[in-house]
Amino acid sequence: MTNKRAIEGLQSRAIDVAPSITRVLANDAMGLEGLIPLWFGEPNQPTPQFICDAAAQSMANGETFYAEGLGRPYLREAIATYMSGLYGCEIGAERIAVTVSGGNALNLAFQSVLNEGDTVATLTPAYPNLLGIPTMQGARLITHPLEVRNGKWSLDVEAFLAAVEGAKVVLLNSPSNPTGFMLSAAEVKRIMGVLRERGTWLISDEVYGRLVYDGSKAAPSFLEASAPEDRLIVVNSFSKSWAMTGWRLGWLTLPPSLTPVVEKIAEFSISCAPPYAQRAGVVALGEGEDFVNHTNILYRDARDQVCNALRAYEAVTCPVPDSAFYAFFHVADVDDSVAVARMLIERARVGLAPGDAFFAPEPGWFRLCFAQTPDQLTEALDRLAPYLSSPATA
Ligand SMILES: Cc1ncc(COP(=O)(O)O)c(C=O)c1O
Repeated sequence: MTNKRAIEGLQSRAIDVAPSITRVLANDAMGLEGLIPLWFGEPNQPTPQFICDAAAQSMANGETFYAEGLGRPYLREAIATYMSGLYGCEIGAERIAVTVSGGNALNLAFQSVLNEGDTVATLTPAYPNLLGIPTMQGARLITHPLEVRNGKWSLDVEAFLAAVEGAKVVLLNSPSNPTGFMLSAAEVKRIMGVLRERGTWLISDEVYGRLVYDGSKAAPSFLEASAPEDRLIVVNSFSKSWAMTGWRLGWLTLPPSLTPVVEKIAEFSISCAPPYAQRAGVVALGEGEDFVNHTNILYRDARDQVCNALRAYEAVTCPVPDSAFYAFFHVADVDDSVAVARMLIERARVGLAPGDAFFAPEPGWFRLCFAQTPDQLTEALDRLAPYLSSPATA
């Protein structure tokens, strides 16, 4: 029995904020034999050996102590060089802050610009932390829906810009978790131009920026449409493209005048990112291109396998994502996605994330992470088949 006496009557933002639905389901299913877990956003590949070797060598060299708050100078330089090359613009190391994950980067970004009661505007469906983090920091949220048009998630940019007028911060996540929606270069330029004119801050979560399936090297970035002193903060992570979710390493690209502010608040929480992980980060950026390109081919094939299979069911609507590694699909006649996700764990032994976790527009949405082997996906799809053929009776 849980003894809740210590927190009885306690009022705090942490008490009020809702726990992660997916995490609760996953914890309940922990240790369930034969379960195929497709709920978390995690590559199935191990971290490449050359990246692990760099960290091991760093530890062997005694790099196990505090480091600089904004990151080791050599990693900040390596990130600046990587970003400048990728986006064809000059980004100096003074704009880079190394963080302990993309999640930490998001927290630092919001902390550096938010005041109590400020308004943050964003799109739904969304990765839950994108709403949870500003809420935890006392912000008020405005959300605007993405829509499915012609079999794709899309955004009416002008309607969005009208809806977010007056917000202090706009938060965008392109490519998006869970939808795989990706802004075009023209949309990025238009949004940046309007927000610049208004003086609105833009936090752009680009952690899936390298997971694109249209043959381009990266998704359009707001860095390509901005100047250094624009009110733009870009969030990145090593987690997804370099298969490093457990390493907890990410970075921010900031206006130079905001960097000392981030340095100050990072000191209050993380102090610094682990130095051996930072050595690994340098190697990931410098030598990881083959890995990134190779896994993108695998993920594109996995996307096709999953989306083709799901789209064959009459009851299923599955917009095909151009980016990220999720199929976000709708099953007709489901009125409680969380209950169905629980039932699928028990009966099909497949772990899906219910759309409620992502502020889906209605019941019936589910997220499946397809960063898996073809065999695992075939097995999972086979197990789901009876429930997708006649979902109302499942
Ligand atoms: C949109 C988005 N942003 C940020 C993160 C955080 O990534 P991490 O903290 O692993 O770097 C995630 C993780 O799933 C995500 O989906």
